[in-house]
Amino acid sequence: MPPITTIDDLKTIYKRRVPTMFYDYAESGSWSEQTFRENVSDFEKIRLRQKVAVDMTNRSTATTMVGQDVAMPVALAPVGLTGMQHPDGEIKAARAAEKFGVPFTLSTMSICSIEDVAAHTTKPFWFQLYVMKDRDFIERLIDRAKAAGCSALVLTFDLQILGQRHKDIKNGLSAPPKLTIRNMIDIAQRQRWAWGMLGTKRHSFGNIVGHAKGVGDLSSLSSWTAEQFDPALNWDDIAWIKERWGGPLILKGILDVDDARRSVDSGADALIVSNHGGRQLDGALSSIRMLPDIVDAVGKDIEIHMDSGIRSGQDVLKAVALGAKSTYIGRSFIYGLGAMGEKGVTAALNVIHKELDTTMALCGERLITNMSRDNLLIPKGFR
Ligand code: FNR
Repeated sequence: MPPITTIDDLKTIYKRRVPTMFYDYAESGSWSEQTFRENVSDFEKIRLRQKVAVDMTNRSTATTMVGQDVAMPVALAPVGLTGMQHPDGEIKAARAAEKFGVPFTLSTMSICSIEDVAAHTTKPFWFQLYVMKDRDFIERLIDRAKAAGCSALVLTFDLQILGQRHKDIKNGLSAPPKLTIRNMIDIAQRQRWAWGMLGTKRHSFGNIVGHAKGVGDLSSLSSWTAEQFDPALNWDDIAWIKERWGGPLILKGILDVDDARRSVDSGADALIVSNHGGRQLDGALSSIRMLPDIVDAVGKDIEIHMDSGIRSGQDVLKAVALGAKSTYIGRSFIYGLGAMGEKGVTAALNVIHKELDTTMALCGERLITNMSRDNLLIPKGFR
C-alpha cells in the first residue's frame, strides 16, 4: 500500500472497506448537499500569506480547549454510528485521540456505550448530548457521563428534527444493517468489516438500548429520531442541563450572530460554529464563512470553536487564524477509522498535524496561538 499522505488517501481505502450504507451515511449532506459541498470549497477561497526568513525552531501547535491542554487545535467531533464504520469504532477512535493528546467526543448515538469507552481508555473523553422528550432518560445520560469521568459536555442544538439525507432513506439505514439481499452482497464484498463485526458484541446503539423508556424499534434511524428527539428544546433548557452537568458546557450548532449572543447569555463555556457538516439546514452558509462575524460579535465573551469541512491542517490553520480557538473533525477521522481502525485515526491526526505544523512555519509563525487574520488573504465579499 502506498504511504498515506492525505485525508483523501484514507477516504479511498475507506470507501472500499465499509458497507455502502455506512459510507453513504457519512459521505452525504442534507437535500441538495449545497452546504455540505461549500463547507469544503469555501476553505479554498481563503489564501495564506507567506513569510520568509523567520526563525522556525521550537514550534508548537499546542493550545487549550475549555481549559484543557490539547496537542493541536483539533478534537474528534461526535459522530453517530461510529461503531458501524469499524468494529468497536468509538473505543478505537477514543484510544487514538488520547494517545495523540486531543479530545474525543462520544455521540449520544454511539454504538459503544459511555461505559464501554470509559472501560477501554485511561483519560477523560467528552460526551455529546442530544435532548430527547424523555427528560428522565436525559438526566440519567448526563449522570452516566459524569460517573464515567467525562470532562466536557457538548450539547447539540441544531438537530431537534433531522435534515433529510436521501441516501439514508433509500438504503434503509439501520444499526445493525438489515440483511436484505442487496446488503448481504455488499457486505460479502467487505469481508474484513464483516469478520470484525462478528468479533464484537457491540452492534446497536449502546447508550440508548436498554436505557431509554419507550424505545422499541431502532431499525430506522430517521423515524426513531423523529419519535424520540425533543422538538421543543430551547434556550431555557440550558439552565437545567448546565446545573445537572456541573462541568464545562459547549454549545454545538451555532451559525448565527444572534444565537451566538444568546449562547453567551446562557452561560455556556464555549460554542461551536457548526452546520453539522452540512447535514441539517441545506442552503445555510458554510461554517468558515460565518466564523468571522461570530468571532467579531462575541469572541471576547466566549471561547469559539468551529467545525464542518475540515479536511487538512491548512483548513485548521485558517479557522484558527480567523479566530476559532480550536476545531473539530468529523469525516476526516471517520475515513481513517473505516480504512484502518485505530491506526487509521492516528494516521488522520498525523496527516493533519504535519500539514498544520508545516503550514504554520511557512506562514512565519512558531506558535499556533499567535495566528491571526494577518496571516490570511481573505477575498473581498467573503464576509
Ligand atoms: C455527525 N455529526 C454529529 N453531531 C452530533 O452532535 N452528534 C452526532 O451524533 C453526529 N453524528 C454525525 C454522523 C456523521 C456520519 C457525520 C458526518 C457527522 C456532526 C459532527 O459532529 C460534525 O459537526 C461534522 O461532522 C463536522 O463536519 P465534517 O468535519 O464532517 O465536515
